[in-house]
This record gives sequence, structure tokens and C-alpha cells, in this order.
Amino acid sequence: MKRKNLINSIRLLLLSTCVIIILFVTTIVIYAYFPGIFENKKDNGSYTIYKLNYDTYKLSNNEKNNEIKYGFELFQNTPEYIGPNNKYNNKVYSGNNLSCTNCHLNAGTKAYSAPLIGVNNRFPQFRGRENKMGTLKERINGCMERSMNGVVLPVNGKEMNAMISYMKWISRYAPKDGIVKGSGFLPITIPNRSVNLEHGEKIYELHCVLCHEKDGSGQKIIDSDRYLYPPVWGNDAYNHGAGMTRVITAAKFIKANMPHGIEFNEPTLTDEECYDVAGYINQKIRPLKVNPEIDFPDIKKKPVSTPYPPFDDSFSIKQHQLGPFQPIMEYYKTKYGIVKTK
Ligand code: HEC
Ligand code: HEC
Repeated sequence: MKRKNLINSIRLLLLSTCVIIILFVTTIVIYAYFPGIFENKKDNGSYTIYKLNYDTYKLSNNEKNNEIKYGFELFQNTPEYIGPNNKYNNKVYSGNNLSCTNCHLNAGTKAYSAPLIGVNNRFPQFRGRENKMGTLKERINGCMERSMNGVVLPVNGKEMNAMISYMKWISRYAPKDGIVKGSGFLPITIPNRSVNLEHGEKIYELHCVLCHEKDGSGQKIIDSDRYLYPPVWGNDAYNHGAGMTRVITAAKFIKANMPHGIEFNEPTLTDEECYDVAGYINQKIRPLKVNPEIDFPDIKKKPVSTPYPPFDDSFSIKQHQLGPFQPIMEYYKTKYGIVKTK
């Protein structure tokens, strides 16, 4: 009788050990394939979405995941794959050695640094620059021709598809409409005056020169084409057709992201300082976008701080570059009922 009890207890023990082991293994397998499954996804009202798992290294290797991983690689180390000196493609696509992540920080997952979480749900969307509905692929190519001072990626090529897969993957917790708090850049109060270039230069010397250098050329990683600190003007920088060349856009980017290391809720610079330093870097020489005059077929939709003509108003080019922007905004509001913010 005692012996039977003992055998039964041993059986029970073995059985429960097996169950525990099976549960443990299943949890690990589920976690490996769906790393986000235990995270809180219901928090639309706050910035929690930026703290979820976007680590492509945690993905297992299969065809789909490898495409996501390649998309991340391209985003993070762009010049190595499509840059002017790349040894990977037989064609050069970007004209400078910037990486996408230099402006879309943390590989597109930092709030107020034009994050790409949810972006595939925000497209297709109406684009004023082309005055038509645009796809996400066309939007990526917009950054290729401007921010990267290069040429378009083939829309069905390996690189474009990998970028799309990566963006879809980092969007997997985003709501259906793609509207995520912290998209775009941090709103600022635009000073009602023109940029003070001398003040901008002082700010640059005090807060930026350490990394971006006195001549704006930044610093490369040793033995690499990639930048440790990317250039903010000069031959290897974004061209004059890029969004970052608009003073208002650059000021908003700087507010939440520069000097590097800050978070949007603890900015170092005031709105006035961001405005002046943005004006200072954007007055410097940089590559010129070809055919800038064909941008914005409906020119009244052109952002007020676009630095190149034509314009549907009689304000000077200088005022479009350095402000004050309020009178230009007022003009479009009164004449066309168009509210412009950049
Ligand atoms: C020099 C800075 C810079 C670089 C480098 C850059 N971008 Fe952008 N990107 C911008 C700006 C500015 C915007 C406009 C954001 C806004 O106005 O909300 C933008 C917008 C986008 C958008 C649309 C975002 C949205 O929320 O609608 C996508 C997609 C994008 N970029 C992809 C890329 C990719 C891919 C690369 C690399 C090949 C890249 N960008 C490199 C500055 C840059
Ligand atoms: C501690 C170093 C550091 C300082 C100081 C710093 N930056 Fe940056 N900056 C960076 C890095 C690094 C990046 C790229 C971000 C990334 O890849 O994560 C960057 C990116 C940028 C970009 C977009 C990419 C490009 O090169 O066009 C701009 C514009 C910029 N910084 C402007 C400024 C301005 C203006 C200041 C001063 C207010 C400043 N930065 C201070 C390190 C710095």
C-alpha cells in the first residue's frame, strides 16, 4: 500500500515537472516569435508605444524576419548599402553619407523626431509637394532625393521592400489610422521676427560645435563611411529641397532632439534659440536639389519657410528663408483661407 502511494506520488511529481517544463518552453517559443505579446498595447493616450520592443535582433531568422532585419540595417547604416562609396550594390542611390536614423532617431522610434511608428497606416495621403495622393514608397523616395541628396530607389526593389517591411514591423502596435502621439516634430512658438543670425552662430558655437564641428562637416566613424556626428551643411549634407532646410521644420527637430541625447520633455534650448540656430545652419552652403521649381505644382500650398521660389506671394526670398513668417501666414489665411504651420 505504502509502495503504491510512493509510486503515485512519484508519478504525480514527474507529471507536474513535465507540465511545468512544457509551459516554460511554450512561453519561451511564443516570446521568441512574438516578443511584444506580453507588453501593454492599449495605451493610446501616452507615449508608451515608444517603449515597446523594436529590437530586430530579437527576431528569429526566417525569410520574412530577414527582410525586416535588412530594412533596419539599411535605415541604420544607409551609406554602407546605398551610399556613394558602397561596396554592396552596383548602383549608388544616396548622394550623401547620411543614414535615415540621423534624422529619424533611434531607427524611427523616437517621439518628435519624425518617428515612423504607424507610418504605413498614414499612407497613402495627400501630398502638397506633388499636389496628389502619394504612397509611402513615394514618400521614402522624397527623402532619397532631398534628405539623402540622391535618386529614387526602384519601387519594387529589394531595398524599398525591406524598408517597407521594417516600417510595417515597427508599426505593429499602432492604431489603424496610424495616428500616434509624438509623430512629426515638437510644436514650438515661432518667434514673430526674422532669424537673428549672429545669435544663431553663438548658439551653434555653444551647443553644437562640439559634435557637428565649426565647418558643419561633422565627424565620421573611423574607417567607415558612416557618421558619428552627421554634417549639418556642406557637400555631404541634406540638399536645399529637404524638409530640414526649412527653418521652422529644423527648429522643431532641434527643440526635441538636439544637443543629441535630450528627450522632448526636457529640451535644452528655448524656442528662440532653436529658431536662430536653425536659421544659421540653413543659410550655409549645401547641395542644390535639381528642378526645385517643379515642387508644389499648386504653389499656394508651398510651406512658408520653403527657401526657394517660385511663390504665390510678393514676400522676398529672404523673408521665406529667415522670416518673419507670421505676415506670410496671415497673407495665405486672408487670401485663400489656407492655414500654414511650416
Ligand atoms: C536630413 C534629415 C532626414 C533624413 C536623413 C531622412 N529623412 Fe525622412 N524625413 C525628414 C523630414 C524633415 C520629414 C518630414 C517630417 C514632417 O514634416 O513631419 C521626413 C519624413 C519622412 C517620412 C514620412 C513620415 C511621416 O510621418 O509622414 C518617411 C517615411 C521618411 N521620412 C523616410 C525616410 C527614409 C527611409 C530615410 C533614409 C533613406 C530618410 N527618411 C532620411 C528628414 C529626413
Ligand atoms: C553630443 C553631440 C551632438 C551635439 C552637441 C549636437 N548634435 Fe546634432 N546630431 C548629433 C548626432 C549623433 C546626430 C544623428 C542622430 C542619430 O543618428 O542618432 C545629430 C543630428 C543632427 C541633425 C540632423 C542630421 C543632419 O546632420 O542633418 C541636425 C540638423 C542637428 N543634429 C543639428 C544640431 C544642432 C543645431 C545642434 C546644437 C543646438 C546639435 N545638433 C548638437 C550629435 C550632436
